[in-house]
Amino acid sequence: MTDARVPSRRRYLVCDPGHFDVRYAINPWMRPDRPVDLALAQRQWRALIDVYRAHGHTVDSVKPVPGLPDMVFAANAAVVVGGRVLGSLFLAPERRPESVPYESWFKAEGFDVHRPESVCEGEGDLVVAGRWILAGTGFRTTREAHHEAQEFFGVPVIGLTLVDPYFYHLDTALFVLDEENIAYYPEAFSPGSREVLALLYPDAVIATREDAMAFGLNSVSDGRHVFVSPEATGLAAQLTDRGYVPVPVDLSEFHKAGGGIKCCTQEIRS
Ligand code: ARG
Repeated sequence: MTDARVPSRRRYLVCDPGHFDVRYAINPWMRPDRPVDLALAQRQWRALIDVYRAHGHTVDSVKPVPGLPDMVFAANAAVVVGGRVLGSLFLAPERRPESVPYESWFKAEGFDVHRPESVCEGEGDLVVAGRWILAGTGFRTTREAHHEAQEFFGVPVIGLTLVDPYFYHLDTALFVLDEENIAYYPEAFSPGSREVLALLYPDAVIATREDAMAFGLNSVSDGRHVFVSPEATGLAAQLTDRGYVPVPVDLSEFHKAGGGIKCCTQEIRS
C-alpha cells in the first residue's frame, strides 16, 4: 500500500471564458472552421472552479477582455514563485495583448511584475517542480527565457526540448504530482531531454500517447487530488495505483483550442 497522500491548499488564478473562441490557429488542435459551443464551455469551466473550491482551494479571477479568445488560458500569463511574478511575452501576435490585463491584476494585488525580454509563455512552459523549474522550449518559450527565469527566481531551471507539435507547451506533456514526482509522455521530448527526465524522475508516471492526446497530462494536482481529463482513463488508473485520487473534470470544448485543465489554471505561490 502507498502512504496516504496529503493535499495542500492552493491559490489559483483563472479567467472566465466569456470571450473564448477559436479564431486563429497557432497549434495543431485549433481549427477556426469548427464552432465552439460557448455555453457548454462556460458550464465546463464553472464546474472546474466549483471542484477546486469544493477541495478547499482559493480561486481568483482576471476579467476577460473582448477580442482575446485565448485569455481563458491563465497558465500562460505568468509564473509566480515565492511571491515573485515573472510575466509573459507571447510568441503569437494575437496573444501578446493578454499580458497586459494579467499584469494589471497582479499589480492591483500588490505584486511587482518582471516582464521577460524573450518569448515566455508562463506556466505553459515553466513548470514549478519542488526545488527546481522544468522549462520547455522548441515551440514557444525560448532558451533565453529559461535563463531569465533562473536569474529572476534564483532556482535551477532545467531546460527540456519539446518535439511534437501536438505537445507545444510543456504543460501538455508533463505535470507535477507533488514535490517529488511527475507524470509525462516521453515521446513528446527530444532524446536528451528524455534522458534528463529519466534521471531526475526514475519513478515517474509514464503516460501513453492516447492519454496525452486526451489532455491527461494537462492536469492539476494538489498533492493528493489530481484534476484530470475523464478520457485519460489509463492515466487515472495509474494514479490510483500510486495512491492519488483522480478527480475527473471535462474541459472538452477547450481542447478545440489546444487547452485543458492546467492551461486554464495558474498557481499563485506566495
Ligand atoms: N490556443 C492557446 C495557444 O495555442 C492554448 C494555450 C493552452 N495553454 C497551455 N498552458 N498549454 O496558445
